[in-house]
Amino acid sequence: MLQINSLQEMQEITYPTGSRIGFVPTMGYLHEGHLSLVDASRKECKITVVSIFINPAQFGPNEDLASYPRDLERDLNLLHERGVDYVFFPSSGQMYPDGYHSWVEVEELSNILCGASRPGHFRGVCTVVLKLINLVRPHRMYMGEKDYQQLTILRTMAVDLNLPLRIVGCPIVREPDGLAKSSRNVYLDQSQRQIARSLSEALQMAQSQARSGILDSAELIRQATEHLQSRGARVDYVSIVDSRTLMPHAQIDEYSRMLLAAYVGKTRLIDNLQLL
Ligand code: PAF
Repeated sequence: MLQINSLQEMQEITYPTGSRIGFVPTMGYLHEGHLSLVDASRKECKITVVSIFINPAQFGPNEDLASYPRDLERDLNLLHERGVDYVFFPSSGQMYPDGYHSWVEVEELSNILCGASRPGHFRGVCTVVLKLINLVRPHRMYMGEKDYQQLTILRTMAVDLNLPLRIVGCPIVREPDGLAKSSRNVYLDQSQRQIARSLSEALQMAQSQARSGILDSAELIRQATEHLQSRGARVDYVSIVDSRTLMPHAQIDEYSRMLLAAYVGKTRLIDNLQLL
């Protein structure tokens, strides 16, 4: 596995002719969710590149940039064991040097759901991901469905800006009790960890209600919100949207997906599930 921390070196890599390049962008502190993306890339592509970069541009002033968990050595070992070809870990100074001015914004989709409580977050995500794509030059990019809004926004960016790559969404990897794997789960103490289960429970409840014929979104949202609150989570939003456009769905159909975000203590967690 080749370790690269220079932008120029990454961009100058000459891949063997005809090789399909798979790319997994991450912020490190890797878990099984990230590694499932690596596995998907290795299955479909000749070469797999993983980036590790905690992107300051996607954190708000009161968010957890300083405390975001990191362990580069452990990450490098995991990626090496998993058969990754290149790992790219640039510094913030290289990615955003003094005099940096250019930003990418996918309008409308970036201001709803998570974007409503995290202004500027998706602008930071789109900007860094486009920069990484330009540095790595992949044919396919592998992303988890846990960040479903992020996935949809990046797909929109790729279409709008004619990016010559395919974005592959991969299923959420969960703990045995249903909690979606996330680097931020490490913030949870034992009692918060119990409360955190309520996110996947609320989604499962909504899915079984929808499958049993309750197709009124408002009712499913009310029940999910009540469940989260009764377990001690502070709800940011619970929404049912069209999984292709993220626009609200009043009546459940085959495209309906419930997306939710809630605070457990100070930790903000997100999760989502297709309802039918
Ligand atoms: O999902 C993440 O870990 C980040 O938002 C990403 C896509 C690596 C961009 O910094």
